[in-house]
Amino acid sequence: MIPNFTTPDVAAPGVAASGVFVPETACSRELYLPQAARLLEVEALTARESRFKVELPRPLGHRPGQFVMLSAPGIGEAPISISCGPRDDAILEMVIRRVGTLTRFLHELEPGQWVGVRGPFGSGFDLGDFYGRDLLFVVGGLGMVPMRSLIQAVMATPDRFGKVTLISGWRTPADELFRAEVQSWSRLGEGSGRVRVIRLVDDTAKLPWDGGVGLVTEPIADLDLDPERTVAALCGPPVMYKFVILELVARGLAPSRIFVDLERRMRCGVGKCGHCQINHLYCCQDGPVFRLDRVAHLPEALP
Ligand SMILES: Cc1cc2nc3c(=O)[nH]c(=O)nc-3n(C[C@H](O)[C@H](O)[C@H](O)COP(=O)(O)OP(=O)(O)OC[C@H]3O[C@@H](n4cnc5c(N)ncnc54)[C@H](O)[C@@H]3O)c2cc1C
Ligand code: FES
Repeated sequence: MIPNFTTPDVAAPGVAASGVFVPETACSRELYLPQAARLLEVEALTARESRFKVELPRPLGHRPGQFVMLSAPGIGEAPISISCGPRDDAILEMVIRRVGTLTRFLHELEPGQWVGVRGPFGSGFDLGDFYGRDLLFVVGGLGMVPMRSLIQAVMATPDRFGKVTLISGWRTPADELFRAEVQSWSRLGEGSGRVRVIRLVDDTAKLPWDGGVGLVTEPIADLDLDPERTVAALCGPPVMYKFVILELVARGLAPSRIFVDLERRMRCGVGKCGHCQINHLYCCQDGPVFRLDRVAHLPEALP
């Protein structure tokens, strides 16, 4: 279907520092046009990453693991993961690392200013794959951002799942995201033993640290893990996947029970530009979350 690209001729509900957004019309619901989202909060989490809370004109209705295309007119647009679990209101949380043109600009914004949001895009995680199972989440660094949306969804109804284990790995204690929230998940399991959190750093960098030191692969061999009951979800830097998958397969986990979040460079988010292709798959639409048995044989999928 060819979308209706009607050009808006009135000022937007919000005017960004360097441009004008479209007003709230039927055409703004198209995936090709950003909706104006008002910045509610910006909170520095680390030296490089901040949490952005925005309010949209209406709920996005996202699934965990989906992403949006976030933009500032005249500056640029980039894919950014949704970091909160599904919710009924029109609030969205994202965590953005300051790396380049757009993200530097976004870090300068203040509450009350506007950004553009297209989406949500991508497959995301299907909670149906996780109900009734023991869950193992393995995250590295910024991988915590999309994984948080899944873990928040699980923690909202923990009785629908079996045991939950989270292994998170960071370069140093200063890089850890959502420490207080992760510790609150850990407390949910106190007594019942149903939630276990293992927090690791490569190097303490002489900072105070109450977790362990090592790689996220290391605890897997000693986990109390029933491969017939367990589903694993991995999100982190590309180098992490190969070694975590090797450990999980060694523990008897079938590839059909392992989900990987694969990120690629993206431009359109809607399967048109081809930037995100992994062989015949479009990461922006078929992914970024894939069941391992769908991609393990593809030469371009895993390093
Ligand atoms: C599905 C998806 C979800 C993402 N979620 C988040 C998120 O939640 N938070 C976040 O901070 N970032 C996220 N990113 C990464 C973010 O989209 C890029 O870092 C983006 O390029 C930043 O825009 P920029 O204009 O600030 O930087 P740019 O000026 O575009 O680039 C800055 C530097 O990053 C490099 N770069 C850009 N994109 C990529 C890429 N995909 N892989 C490797 N290197 C790249 C460039 O070559 C350059 O060196 C996500 C990417 C994808 C594909
Ligand atoms: S980002 Fe354009 S095809 Fe996927």
